[in-house]
Amino acid sequence: MIIAVDGPTASGKGTIAKALAAHFHLPHLDTGLLYRAVGRQCLLSGGNPDDPVDALTACTFAPELLSDPELRSEATGGLASRVSIHPTVRQALFERQRNFATQPGGAVLDGRDIGTVIAPEAAAKLFVVASVEARAQRRFLEMQAHGRDVSLEDIAADLAARDERDRSRKDAPLRAAEHAVVIDTSTLRREEAIAAAIAAVDALT
Ligand code: C5P
Repeated sequence: MIIAVDGPTASGKGTIAKALAAHFHLPHLDTGLLYRAVGRQCLLSGGNPDDPVDALTACTFAPELLSDPELRSEATGGLASRVSIHPTVRQALFERQRNFATQPGGAVLDGRDIGTVIAPEAAAKLFVVASVEARAQRRFLEMQAHGRDVSLEDIAADLAARDERDRSRKDAPLRAAEHAVVIDTSTLRREEAIAAAIAAVDALT
């Protein structure tokens, strides 16, 4: 059973994907982390994330980079969305995601194009959304908890810019797959969003 969980940044898709993996006893891959590693590697090696050759070269990042805490930062998220525009980068990361998705027993993957490109045959496809305000507020509280000094306005502007880039790119733009179940988490508590996702997967499988 493959479960595809797509949606914009800070929509709650990561939380939902992790909870689904635990509930259905499936392995989980956060595919955003792969793009973040490419963005971070590009920066570390002095490359330009907007240059397709530099970005592709960064796809050969060392596996240890995946546990670098800096990968979770907003700055790295921004770099990830810039390198992810290049079709060659998406192609370079395709096989790895595809192999994970098709392992025996199934898997849960979250990202932007799981239901549309990586695993269009997924048994359950969820598209998790939330208003920019709700997402910015969550990210703001998360950052405050980590002692980072950022303004709510800056976070909202950053999220909106990243959404625009992810939605407007030519290759694998962010959009709901056909037959995807849309879960709007704007007004849901964490446990409510997880329960809605489990119910949706149960109904589909
Ligand atoms: O989900 P996360 O915020 O970690 O993703 C970082 C960036 O990586 C996204 O803004 C998006 O541009 C890119 N990404 C992608 N396809 C995926 C996962 C992430 O293009 N499957």
